[in-house]
Parts: sequence; C-alpha cells; structure tokens
Amino acid sequence: MLIERTHTAGELRASDVGTKVVVQGWTQNVRDRGGVAFIVLRDRYGTVQITVDERSPEAAREAVKKLAQEYTIQVKGEVVARYQPNSAMPTGEIEIVAEEVEILSATRPLPFSVSGPVDAGEDVRLRYRYLDLRRQELQRNLIMRHKAVFAVRRVLDAQGFLEMETPILTKATPEGARDYLVPSRVHPGQFYALPQSPQLFKQILMVAGYDRYFQIARCFRDEDLRADRQPEFTQIDLEISFSTREIVMRVAETIARAMWKESRDFDIPEIPVMSFHESIARYGVDAPDIRFGMELSNLTDTVVHSAFAPVAGAIAAGGIVKGFVITGAAEATSRKHLDAWTVFVKAYGLTGLLWGKVASDGTLTGPAAKIIAEGESSAPLLSALGAGPHDLVVIAAGDKGAVNPGLGRLRVSVAKELGLIPADVFKFCWVVDFPMFEKDPEGAWTPMHHPFTSPRAVHMDWLNTDKMGDILADAYDLVCNGSEIGGGSIRIHSTEVQQKVFAAIGITPEDQSKRFGFLLDALAHGAPPHGGLAFGLDRCIAILTGSESIRDVIAFPKTTSAQCMMTDAPSEVPLRDLDVLKIRSTAGDA
Ligand code: AMO
Repeated sequence: MLIERTHTAGELRASDVGTKVVVQGWTQNVRDRGGVAFIVLRDRYGTVQITVDERSPEAAREAVKKLAQEYTIQVKGEVVARYQPNSAMPTGEIEIVAEEVEILSATRPLPFSVSGPVDAGEDVRLRYRYLDLRRQELQRNLIMRHKAVFAVRRVLDAQGFLEMETPILTKATPEGARDYLVPSRVHPGQFYALPQSPQLFKQILMVAGYDRYFQIARCFRDEDLRADRQPEFTQIDLEISFSTREIVMRVAETIARAMWKESRDFDIPEIPVMSFHESIARYGVDAPDIRFGMELSNLTDTVVHSAFAPVAGAIAAGGIVKGFVITGAAEATSRKHLDAWTVFVKAYGLTGLLWGKVASDGTLTGPAAKIIAEGESSAPLLSALGAGPHDLVVIAAGDKGAVNPGLGRLRVSVAKELGLIPADVFKFCWVVDFPMFEKDPEGAWTPMHHPFTSPRAVHMDWLNTDKMGDILADAYDLVCNGSEIGGGSIRIHSTEVQQKVFAAIGITPEDQSKRFGFLLDALAHGAPPHGGLAFGLDRCIAILTGSESIRDVIAFPKTTSAQCMMTDAPSEVPLRDLDVLKIRSTAGDA
C-alpha cells in the first residue's frame, strides 16, 4: 500500500540512526548475496542503501527476489549505522534495514544502462527520454536550469519587471529564420505563425506603458540546427522603456550575475566591451572566445609584394591575408592534423591553409614559406604574426568573408583539440556597434539583427543612401566563452524611421502595412523610446553545466533534424484533418 514517504533517499545521515523511515524510488542496483541483499535506492535527491537480511521479515526477502534494476519500490525500515561506511555516498554512514519492500512498478528490460556509463546512441536515449532523464547528469542539469530561472525571476521582480505572456499563435516576427506555420480551420487558407521571439509584442507593451517587461519565452525557428540551436528554445526576454543601451546592458548583467552566482557560485567580473569590427579583426567572428590568446593578425600589408599566387591573387582581388600562431606546436603537430585543419577551413570557402613551422634558428618551413621570395627574410612575416622558434603558424588568404570565419572557427577548434582552453573558466564580453545591414546572398540589404533595431542616431541620415553598409546599429550581444548567450538593441520608436528601414530592406509600403501595419500604428500612438534584450536560456545553462549540446539541458529536445524521437513528431495526420483545414499535401507528388 502506498504511504507517504518520511525521507528522501539523499538526506539520511548518522544522526538518523534508530529512526523508522519510509523511502520510495528506483532500484539503481540490486545485489542478492543469498541471505543478504543490498539495494541502492535512488530518487531525485540521492541514493541510500537498503539491506534485506535475516532481520527482515520473510515477505521482504521474497520481494527482493523479484527485483531488477529500475523497479519502483517503497521500503519501510529502520536506519542503522553501517558496519563499513561508504565515504563515496553522502548517505554512506547508514543503511536502512528493510521491514517491508513493496514493488510499486516493474520495468521492461532496459534499452540502456541508466546509472552506469552511457552505453547507447543519442537516438535511443532520446526515444526513451524518461530513462535518460533519470541519469544524474541530466537531473543535475535540469535542476540547475530551474534554479537559474528562479534566480532570474527574483532579480527581475526586485527591479520592477512584470512577467507577461505574449501569444504563441500569432503573425510572423522576423528574426532571420523560417516560420513554423499553423493553419487556421476557421479561416481556410490562412495561417498563424509561431513566434520566432516575442519581439513585436514586447515593443507594443512598451507603447502600452508597462515600462519593464520580461518573459521566460518559448521561441520557434525553422532553421538549420546545430549543437547550440533547437527549433523551439527558451529566451529570457526583456524590454525597458526610456532606456539607453547602457541601461539595458546593466540590467542584463544583473541577470547573468544572478544565474552564474546561483548555479556556479561564480562572481562575473567587469565585462569588457568590444566593437563588432574589433571582434572580427582579432578573432574573425562576432562571438569571440576570449578564454585564450591565438588572436588573428592581419598580414595583408606585410605580404603585399608576395609573388606566391594564392596570396598575390587574393590581394589583387581585394582580399586579405591573416594568420595566427600556435605557440610551441611546431614539432608536435602532425601532417594529419594539418590536413584536417585544411579540410576544416575549406568549409568556410577558403581554398586552402598555409601552415608553417618555425625552426629553432628562426627559419620558416612548410607552405607558408612560399609567401616569402627566395633570398628574402621571413622575419617581417614572423614578427607581424608574433611567432618565434618552435611555433606553428597558420595563414589564409582570400575574401574577408571566408578568411575571417574560416580562421576564427579554426582558432577555436584547434584550441579545443590541443587542450588550450582553460577548464571551468567563464569569460564574458559585450560586442557592440554591429553594422545595421549586411548583404544577403542575392546582394540585397538585410538587417543584421532584426528590422526593429535602431540605427545609431548619428547614422540615421545614411538610410537609403550609398552609405547603407556603414550604418551602425544600436545593438549589443553578450558573449560567454565564445557563445552568443544574449542579444538585443535599442528599437526604432518612430513610424517614419521604421518605414525608412523597411524600405531600405526592400519591403514595399503595401507589404509594410500588410505585415507590420499594427506595429506602425502602435509606434504612431506615443511610443516611448525603448530597448531590450533576450538571453538564450538553453545556451546559458549548457555553459553553466559544461554540456556539449543544448539538448542536454532541455527536458524534451529535438534531434538536429527537428524530430522528437520519443513522440515521433512530426508525423502524418489523417487526410480528413487536412480536409477540415482545406489543405492538400503534395509531399508524395513527383
Ligand atoms: P536573437 O535572435 O539574437 O534575438 O536571440 C536571442 C538569443 O537567443 C538564443 N538563440 C537560440 N538558442 C537556441 N536555439 C536557437 N535556434 C536560437 N536562436 C537564438 C541566442 C541569442 O543570443 N528578439 C531578439 C532579442 C531582442 O532584440 O531583444 C532576438 O530574438 O543565445
């Protein structure tokens, strides 16, 4: 019979000896030694040893014979001191001598081990997510997630923020991804879009006078997935009226501080601010990992007279030459590594990687040496790179759109591979002054953030002129350990400016009113200046827990092909359901 537990499995100590207890949980381990059986009982709070021996009644001893791993049981018994304490277990000084062992639920054979080392592929573990979620690591992650979110709520409440919900069935909110669409039954042929973020609603809440809003918001984006991207993910979303970018950044820092303090007892020091251009120059990417050096050097001027075709060709075509140094790695780095790195950078559009080894006498060997003409010294190149004897240098020449990301990502990949990134360190930085627009693959201007971001006031007049590419946005990203954990901006609060930005990205006046008429109307009704930011909660928790993938910090994540292995979503629906929606599938058509 189910009775209320008196204790959890993790809390019993020597001071509880002599107490009669009731515990419930899963059988992590059952060892039957013929006459004496030991059960490790586990619940969310920890583990405790149950002993069933001649002191236990016959019924309890019989029940143990039916047990296997991961059965759900209830044990009534008395806490006794262990003959041989187990210092590896927080409850290791005691055990419970069973008076009653009741099986509450049995299990089918397990598809993988729940308590031992991971012995199954991720697909199987995702299919039986409820078993995987019993693992200590995932429980720890999800508990840390809860605590971090709770700390955020406390901090924001104390600063006067109101937690408000915004619709899930809504209209497209462009954040750079494809929308998930939901067909309307009542309005055949019409669709809701799931929000890519609450962006427009939070801005409208500012117009409505709720000057400090936040939401732990679910966002939906149909985009190519990676380890740090899910089709539905969670943001800590906030917006502040009458706000400068410094005010938003200050509030965001209080959130980050609360999460890192609560979860890791880590005090975030003052966070440096870097411009987008500086970040690209030094790290090749806009979310720099500043836990280690190996910064990129621009070598274009140094090698401008090189006759070596890849370099000369790149410079003649308006490209750049950059490189970085891996200190002391000349001897230890094998050809296999270098070949793999070359393949790596080719994925970013580079034609190759020029590596070079610096010998103890300072001479440069390897493909990079070809940059230097016969008889000329390699000293200027090595000095521009900051390289010395025994160092390995890697150099790339080409279009800056390939050189920067190629070398920037290689820098991080190499540092990971060679163990050059210090463990358990959190390095934050702000990246600000992003370009407002970038060219899409078709050559049209698109917003780098989203189209509701305000251009910097001094650049406002450049809208729709030939200086479009020079306009800076009042936007800021917060980066931790090379991952963009949050981003936001000061918004446009004037209808006219908003219309100009829409026009600049090619949205016709008709389309503007069709897609964003409600926003343009709202901005025309006394909109306060406002700005905000959203943290990617899953990414923050992945960093806090040291998880490789955000799937490990989400209770029910999807695969990289956006499937839920447990429920088998997405799945086909009966034709009659489509008929009701007046939708016909062409999926099977040739
Ligand atoms: P942005 O698109 O930069 O900004 O998103 C904010 C943060 O959300 C996280 N993030 C993701 N996490 C997991 N999976 C994804 N697919 C994914 N996409 C983004 C990132 C990112 O920094 N409305 C604006 C915010 C604002 O301007 O206030 C927005 O959504 O950590």
